[in-house]
Order: sequence, then structure tokens, then C-alpha cells
Amino acid sequence: MTEKDLQKEIADLQAQIRKLQKNNLGLVFEDKTEDVVVQCEKNIPVLKEVKTRRITAKDQSNNLLIEGDNYHALSVLNYTHKKNIDLIYIDPPYNTGAKNWKYNNDYVDKEDEYRHSKWLSFMRHRVNLAKNLLKDDGVLICAIDENEQAHLSVLFEQMFPAYDQYTIVIIHNPGGTQGNNFHSSHEYAIFLVPKNKTLIGLQDRTDNPDVRPLRDVSTGNHLREDAKNCFYPIFVKDGKIIGFGDVCDDSFHPKSANVIRKDGVIEIYPIDPSGNERKWVFARQTVESIQNELAVVENRNRKILDIVRTKTMFNYKTVWTDGKYNANIFGTKLLREILPNCDFDFPKSLYTVYDCVFSVVGHRPNATILDFFAGSGTTGHAVLEMNKKDGGNRKFILCTNNENNNEGNGGIAESVCYPRIKAIIKGYKNKRNEKVKGIESNLYYYKTDLVNIEHLHKIPDEAKIRVTYQAGEMIAVREDTLNEVEKNEWWQIFEGDGRMTAIYFKEDKSKLVELIEKLEKKKLPVALYIFSWGKNEYKGEYSSAHIQVEDIPEPILEVYKEINRL
Ligand SMILES: C[S@@+](CC[C@H](N)C(=O)[O-])C[C@H]1O[C@@H](n2cnc3c(N)ncnc32)[C@H](O)[C@@H]1O
Repeated sequence: MTEKDLQKEIADLQAQIRKLQKNNLGLVFEDKTEDVVVQCEKNIPVLKEVKTRRITAKDQSNNLLIEGDNYHALSVLNYTHKKNIDLIYIDPPYNTGAKNWKYNNDYVDKEDEYRHSKWLSFMRHRVNLAKNLLKDDGVLICAIDENEQAHLSVLFEQMFPAYDQYTIVIIHNPGGTQGNNFHSSHEYAIFLVPKNKTLIGLQDRTDNPDVRPLRDVSTGNHLREDAKNCFYPIFVKDGKIIGFGDVCDDSFHPKSANVIRKDGVIEIYPIDPSGNERKWVFARQTVESIQNELAVVENRNRKILDIVRTKTMFNYKTVWTDGKYNANIFGTKLLREILPNCDFDFPKSLYTVYDCVFSVVGHRPNATILDFFAGSGTTGHAVLEMNKKDGGNRKFILCTNNENNNEGNGGIAESVCYPRIKAIIKGYKNKRNEKVKGIESNLYYYKTDLVNIEHLHKIPDEAKIRVTYQAGEMIAVREDTLNEVEKNEWWQIFEGDGRMTAIYFKEDKSKLVELIEKLEKKKLPVALYIFSWGKNEYKGEYSSAHIQVEDIPEPILEVYKEINRL
């Protein structure tokens, strides 16, 4: 080691000690430099579409598949989708020590004494970028197993102080793996939910509902006098609830549980078989909110009509045991039904991902869902199935590298994730030669690319011009206008969903008026990005009713400078 290297090592160690001293949570790990992160000091990630892989249908929302290292993909998304994502679902490599996770192009094995540090650095870099993408009410879910769950929970606690953390246990392998003391049959899903917000929906248990009397039948003294607002008549006619009466006066005592009025309406009171005046479990002011869960039943023993409540919607439990979470049957085998020759290690059960995603965006039909460890694309598949089921318009963004886990048959992105999503959208024949109908949607396939800028904190003018020429598809993604309709040396135009995006490349503005006239003729809303050395230089001059002017490349460079400071 040269003296220079030694000094650098000492300086790195001192910087780490300073960082650790600031850190009072107890998770101490060495931040391992990663090539893909270092690359971003001299290069800017952008997107390039692989047009031959585009899949489109009429009037459908645009889903994205981005091939590349997710550090680069997430950098791009910091420009295109800041605070735009409802749910991030990720299933990172579990760091098992088996040859399934590379750090700086090398597999990390069990003997590597820095294996936890490397993995935590890897996760921290990416989650730091991903965090900026969440809406204020956005949720992050991370699948994980016992190899890193404890470390990851502490890391999340440091990184997400304004979020509650819930760790769900999922029985994904009911038979259990071979092990010394235990056969492990579960893994985890960590949910990060903004504090003090109820954002997880209810689980539909229609198959196993909870049916019980509305009258408080619990043991103990739950009598009328304990909750006066809970003693009122429920009006029934022809076996149906037709309304609710006022809370009864203290002096009023019905003669029995059913009082038959002259007009044929029956007033039902919460009176028990011994004649005690009990209470309904819902107060008068709230009972209407559950009216659709109530029904009139005949109590044959007492020869009266009674009211029961059938509850089908419940908070999710923290242990998920259903057979549909079996990763072998509904992950590996299901994937082989779709892609018979595909050999992908450990896809999730479709239903594990579906239920995780549904718990957050089941009631958000226009949500955007991001998975930046997409692997075989289970998350995209789940989102498409969800839209099919409830007519929703949710979109997904999948990012995955193109590692070759499928020797000789191309990488994961192009030979597993893309063909799977394509098959789900277009339909496919399963192993029994039965046709499975497609779920119409759009898919745009991008690769990440790097534009050299020499140094992020001192970018020469030629590099700024280079970025402007190369940023078109990334800007089109930001504006969700993905179809390029024109490109020449002066400008580039994209269209989509009744809107346009145009990029004017040059400092020389002699052709700008021509471009603007062309755009005005279309009478569509346009986002016009004009090359500028600074900010807000052309907003006042060229904005109009149809045209909103933006600068390029400065705002892009600012985003990258910001995330590189992290
Ligand atoms: C555990 S798998 C995810 C499986 C996925 N949930 C499924 O059901 O198919 C993790 C995936 O992340 C991908 N991956 C790992 N490191 C990555 C990186 N730095 N950038 C992009 N993808 C990465 C791997 O190729 C692998 O396919």
C-alpha cells in the first residue's frame, strides 16, 4: 500500500468514526463504496427506450420496465417521479451466502466478514433514493428473511423516523427448509407506514365471516345503564330493517324484545332471554354506518326476531398462513406455467405480493406501484390482476438488472421479467395447452444509460449540452407522454394521452418560434423544455395558454447533485 493509499484509508476511517459518533441507534456498519454509486459522480443516468419491446393497447395506462442497476434507475426516478409513488414493494436479495447476490460484481459468500456491511450499504444507498419517491401517504413494503431482518429493521428505524414499522410473518414454505434446530417455514414483510395514519385497508374475509348478535352478549355487566345511547329500537318490516328509533327515555321500558306496532312494524330491543335490558354494541349515532352488515334473524328458541351483524372486513393479522402464500406452488410452479423453460430462483407467490399490494392500494384505483428488485415481475403481474378484478387503473414501474440467472438464455430482465409481463398482457397457453386470456395494458421497456458529465460538481458546458440531447426519453417518462413523434437536430417531440412534450436542444433560439408555431397548431397542452444555461430564463417569454415552459438541463443536474449529497 502506498503512502497516499494509506492516508486515504485513514481519512475514510476518520470520516466513518465521525458518522458513527452522530449515530445513536446502535447499528454500526462500514459503508462500503460501490462502483455504481461512484459512477454517478462522473455520469448522469438517463433512460433509453427499447422500442421493439413496446406493448400498447388503446386507452390503457402506461407501465414501465427499466433494465439496469436499480441505483441508476432510482436516480432517474428521482427526477421523473419524486413524491409520486403510492407503494414501493421490494424483495431484495436476502444475502444468504449462496451465490445469488453480487456486490461490485463479486458474489458475497458466508465467509465474507463484511457481508452484512456490504448488504446494508447496498440497501441504504437504494432506499435513500427510493424514500424521496413516496407520496406523503405512501407506504414501503420490504420482503426479507432471517439473514438480514434484524439488521434491516434497525436500518429502517434510522432511515424512517416518521414511519411506524410493522413486521408481518408469512408462511411461504409450509414444509420448512432443512436446518439444524428448526425447519424454517416463514419469511417477513416489513411495512413502513407514515406515523399516525391509517393507510392499510381491511381484509375481506367473506369466506369466513364473523356472525354475532348485535345485542351485547359478552359476559359481565353490559346493561342498558352502562351506555344509554345503545338502547333504542330497531324497526323491522317484512323481515327487513327499515330504520332506527331514537334513544329511549330512562322511564321507558319495553314489555319484550319485540314490540309489534299497529302498522305492522316490529320494534326490536336488546333484551336478553332473562328479560334484562342490555345494549346494542353500536351506539345510536354510529349504527347506521354498519347498516349493510345487519340482518334480521328468527330466534326459534325464544320465538322472537333478533338482529345479527355479519362482519367480513377485518384488519389484517400479523401472521399470514394461507396456503396461497406457498412460494413453490404459486411462485416457481406458476412461473413455469407462464414461461415453461424459465428457471428463476425464488419468485414470490403471486398471492403474497397481491395481498401485500392490495392491503395498501386496494382502495387506490389509480395508484402507482414501484418494485426496484422486480426479478421475474411478480409485482407487475399482481397489479395487472388487481386491475382486472376491480377495473382499477393502477400502474407499475419495475426495475431489475439483467443478471444471468438463467444460464445461456439471456438475463432476468429480458428473458424472464419482460416475457412474463408480456404473456400476462397478451395472454398465453399454459402447460396443459389451455389459453389464458390477456389483461390489456401498456408496457414500455427502458434501459438505463450513463451520460458522461466529467464531474457532477463542475460540469463543463459541452457536457450540459450532451445531457440535453440525451434526456428526451427521461423527460417523456416524467411527463407520461411516451411516444416520440419527431426528432431532428433542433428539437424532439413526444405525445401521449392528449398531451405533448417538446425539447428544444440549442442555445441558438432561431428555430424556437417555428417549433412553438408547430406545437400551437395541435391545440394540446404542451410541456416545452428549452435549453438554458440557467433557470427560469424563458418561462415568461414563451409560456402561453397551451404551453408550459420548463428549463433543461439545470433542474436535472440539481436533482443529481442533491441525491449525490445523501
Ligand atoms: C429476490 S429477487 C426478486 C424476486 C421477485 N420478487 C419475484 O417474485 O420474482 C431479487 C432480484 O433483484 C435483482 N437485483 C439484485 N440486485 C439488483 C440491482 N442492484 N439492481 C437491479 N436489480 C437487482 C436480481 O436480479 C433478482 O432478480
